[in-house]
Amino acid sequence: MNSLVSDTLPAITADRITIRGGKPLTGRVDVRGAKNLATKAMVAALLGDTPSLLQDVPTISDVDIVTRMLEAYGVAVSKPASGELLLDPANVERAHFEQIDVLAGSSRIPILFCGPLLHRLGEALIPDLGGCRIGDRPIDFHMDALRAFGAIVDKSYEGIRITAPNGLKGANIELPYPSVGATEQVLLTAVRAEGVTELKNAAIEPEIMDLIAVLQKMGAIISIEPNRVIFIEGVDRLEGYTHRAIFDRNEAASWASAALATKGDIFVAGAKQQELMTFLNVFRKVGGRFDIHEDGIRFYHPGGALKPVQVETDVHPGFMTDWQQPLIVALTQAEGVSTVHETVYENRFGFTDALVEMGADIVVHKEGLESITRRVPRRKLEQAAVITGPTPLHGADVRVPDLRGGFSYLIAALTAEGTSTITNLGIINRGYEHFTDKLAGLGADFSIEA
Ligand code: EPZ
Repeated sequence: MNSLVSDTLPAITADRITIRGGKPLTGRVDVRGAKNLATKAMVAALLGDTPSLLQDVPTISDVDIVTRMLEAYGVAVSKPASGELLLDPANVERAHFEQIDVLAGSSRIPILFCGPLLHRLGEALIPDLGGCRIGDRPIDFHMDALRAFGAIVDKSYEGIRITAPNGLKGANIELPYPSVGATEQVLLTAVRAEGVTELKNAAIEPEIMDLIAVLQKMGAIISIEPNRVIFIEGVDRLEGYTHRAIFDRNEAASWASAALATKGDIFVAGAKQQELMTFLNVFRKVGGRFDIHEDGIRFYHPGGALKPVQVETDVHPGFMTDWQQPLIVALTQAEGVSTVHETVYENRFGFTDALVEMGADIVVHKEGLESITRRVPRRKLEQAAVITGPTPLHGADVRVPDLRGGFSYLIAALTAEGTSTITNLGIINRGYEHFTDKLAGLGADFSIEA
């Protein structure tokens, strides 16, 4: 298959990086549009009658995968300028299952094609999904929501086949948990369904608000009510959009943690205060400093000892699950005992084994820990990591397990004295644009090999 974007993806063809650590990272990095919005906005383009233009699209492999999926469905994708994608859905058609299957194995985004494909083609076929191995990651909320709209979900030997012989009708849906993906599923389906949809217990992450902004530009009628309720009035037709993606909060928080752990000073251009408030509070409690500027945020280690913190991951506006892995590396350098409770995924501390190998003192409690100061109600998924510091880190040979865990290994290797080798680097390229160039710009000492 010939994909324009994949052809121009500046490949991290290297699979292995050797880092000589112990040097503060200093300088500037530019953060572009969020992976977790850009890929969804690309899917939304399928719903329009006219082309859509998405701006500030990061050059990452998840965008590449969604590009190739859209192309498999006949969407013409071009790149009019750096960071821009023009998505023309004029000739949408059924894709060959083999094309979709090959692409889907490495991403979770295909599940979000259901609503738009049902509207355009009357059926959707979803193969086995990929994405980071951080727990079970079921799709029951998605399938239940689609059934509520009137879709019929059948398991076939190829995957899940979803049809809507009588069209899709607005529905009353209450999610068991404010799932980001399931909220997006409902939005992308309800905008063109007949009648009104009421979604209760919706996710309200900034990337969801940005997706709603995209859909509103396309002609959708969506109102956000108090207490996680969203109303969507279905419309007959949607147009293409022009939209600049919201900045990547996860990448910004990752570089901030890198500044803290390496005793560095990084200006993260493109980062904004509003969407990072919860992260900034924790960053400050740990002893990091930040200066907010019009065009970005400077994150730095002011010298002296870092302080331990108690953190619980949560849905927005809580502390994001994607922020805990990079932060934990910085917490290995804090004086005292920190606790991080993971309440979103059931298996997101696997990466800490490698940090322990590098000298960190981290104990994972699989059933969580009781404490009276808990803010998030206990979920049966939860685990706790207890980090005792400060511990000097030393170099090791480690393999990237998942996207955020992988970035935390980079930070740990940069913090450690000595040399580390990190393999399976391609996973980091799923969500961190040009990360080796950015590391070089921050003065990191490393070499890469294929
Ligand atoms: C999105 O995943 C992000 N991925 C994740 O980013 C992020 O960690 C997560 O939201 C939480 O913010 C993308 O946007 C592509 P969920 P998503 O549905 O939508 C359970 C990264 O590194 N659940 O909110 O898959 C699920 O198992 C990543 O960029 C069900 O039980 O997250 C989990 O425990 C990784 N049934 C919880 O809900 C379902 O049908 C939250 O998942 C769906 C979800």
